[in-house]
Amino acid sequence: MIQFILNNEEVLTESSPTTVLLDFIRSEKQLTGTKEGCREGDCGACTILLGELVDGTVQYKSANSCLMPLSDAHGRHVVTVEALNQNELTPVQEAMVEEGGTQCGFCTPGFVVSMTGYFLNNKKFSVDDAVDAMSGNICRCTGYSGIERAAERAIVSYNRASSGKNHIERLIEANFIPPIFKSVKDQLKKIKRKSLKAKKAKYFVSGGTDLYVQQWENVVRADADFASDEKIPNEIISTKTKIKIGGATTIQQILESKIIKKYFPALPEDLELFGSLPIRNRATAAGNIVNASPIGDLTNIFIALDADLHLKKGSEKRSVRIRDFYKGYKLVDKKKDEFIEWITFNIPHGDFHFNFEKVSKRTYLDIASVNSSIYFLTQKNLIKSAGLSAGGVGPIPMYLKNTSELLRDKLISTETVRSAAEMALTEISPISDARGSAEYKKLLLRQLIYSHFLVLFPDKIDEIALLKGGEIF
Ligand SMILES: Cc1cc2nc3c(=O)[nH]c(=O)nc-3n(C[C@H](O)[C@H](O)[C@H](O)COP(=O)(O)OP(=O)(O)OC[C@H]3O[C@@H](n4cnc5c(N)ncnc54)[C@H](O)[C@@H]3O)c2cc1C
Ligand code: FES
Ligand code: FES
Repeated sequence: MIQFILNNEEVLTESSPTTVLLDFIRSEKQLTGTKEGCREGDCGACTILLGELVDGTVQYKSANSCLMPLSDAHGRHVVTVEALNQNELTPVQEAMVEEGGTQCGFCTPGFVVSMTGYFLNNKKFSVDDAVDAMSGNICRCTGYSGIERAAERAIVSYNRASSGKNHIERLIEANFIPPIFKSVKDQLKKIKRKSLKAKKAKYFVSGGTDLYVQQWENVVRADADFASDEKIPNEIISTKTKIKIGGATTIQQILESKIIKKYFPALPEDLELFGSLPIRNRATAAGNIVNASPIGDLTNIFIALDADLHLKKGSEKRSVRIRDFYKGYKLVDKKKDEFIEWITFNIPHGDFHFNFEKVSKRTYLDIASVNSSIYFLTQKNLIKSAGLSAGGVGPIPMYLKNTSELLRDKLISTETVRSAAEMALTEISPISDARGSAEYKKLLLRQLIYSHFLVLFPDKIDEIALLKGGEIF
């Protein structure tokens, strides 16, 4: 039995844990405010909020219900637009109406839910941040400026509202959310987190943002196990020498992690190019690695950092370097029922430099055409060691071994960049596809290698000289 709170209703259901949450909401519960658009996590029409008890408070995150198994609703508060509807419009809904933020209306519930989630999750507000919170919502009609104005208007409404005792009470008093939100914490406390482990699971689901895009019709008809049942950790820890990332840690957790920020200050901004907020709220580190996409962003980063994967199957444990994990297109060194528990890599020390680059057809909410990461350990003007990865230029996410070795003990100079780029092009075998021709991808990788050096060592590289000549075809 799966037990959760849907808006203000306590749900106890025997529906299959693999059921798509969107289908449960719309078909089983007849809550049709949550729309089905793309069913691929791209449009945001199906956005819901997921409330979870964390350290005694309920934290809400936006999620795409079209990619979410019902099992992950267990023990949580699922909020659809119907929960927000009251006798009067909420300030968010009113702002959307007044500012022309809605026309045909199909996308509107998704925007309202995302914007309300923004108010639930923050205490200080800006239009830019509100817009970021709606990065997973697409509107075909309005051209977005009405929606941006609506965010601004809703912020003004919030700031004018009287202050309640705590954030939730203030939002209730200001009519952003109904009073039922006050009792959710106590209701969730009563729900025991039970294991939903299947006897013979065919699939293993973490965030579902890959599996439910690729093969949801198969998954809903089969039994599956879920990351929570296998107790895959979802936290980031630093030991004396290592950073440890739990397999079930989400991309958004990594983006917000103080540990990551401390050692990789540019990475949070880089990870904003990963999908959208609702996707990042669900997509996990291990899911990114095991789906074996040649253009997985986190995979690309971990390969450059020479991460180790720690796998477990029952009580058996083993470790494998991520650089050795990929054996062919979508083929990985992992047995059935073996799970990635942790991903670890060395804590940077000395003169450590790291950079990630990604080019996609559109800047946000898109997967890469080509991506690349690099780390350098330097001593004055000398590269002591380097690790370069490249995605989208071969059947697997690649570690460019020869290029990384070539960089060792070289001066940081324009000449070194050029020879590294030349070597890299001998290590890759891109194919032409919807994301670009093979020639274009070669050109992209060369430019990304140039970018790594220009971003990290702007004073030591002559950009004009680098960009002159250098024909590759
Ligand atoms: C709209 C959209 C945008 C996206 N944008 C990006 C992007 O910008 N960059 C990017 O890299 N990816 C992107 N993705 C792809 C996807 O979100 C990521 O690859 C994500 O990290 C997958 O994680 P998940 O937990 O959702 O995986 P799931 O779908 O749950 O699982 C994927 C695979 O990994 C396996 N698996 C999951 N966890 C484990 C584990 N602990 N041990 C062993 N096997 C496991 C599953 O069995 C399955 O085979 C996007 C997807 C969508 C839908
Ligand atoms: S239906 Fe488009 S994101 Fe879910
Ligand atoms: S109002 Fe029509 S899609 Fe946004």
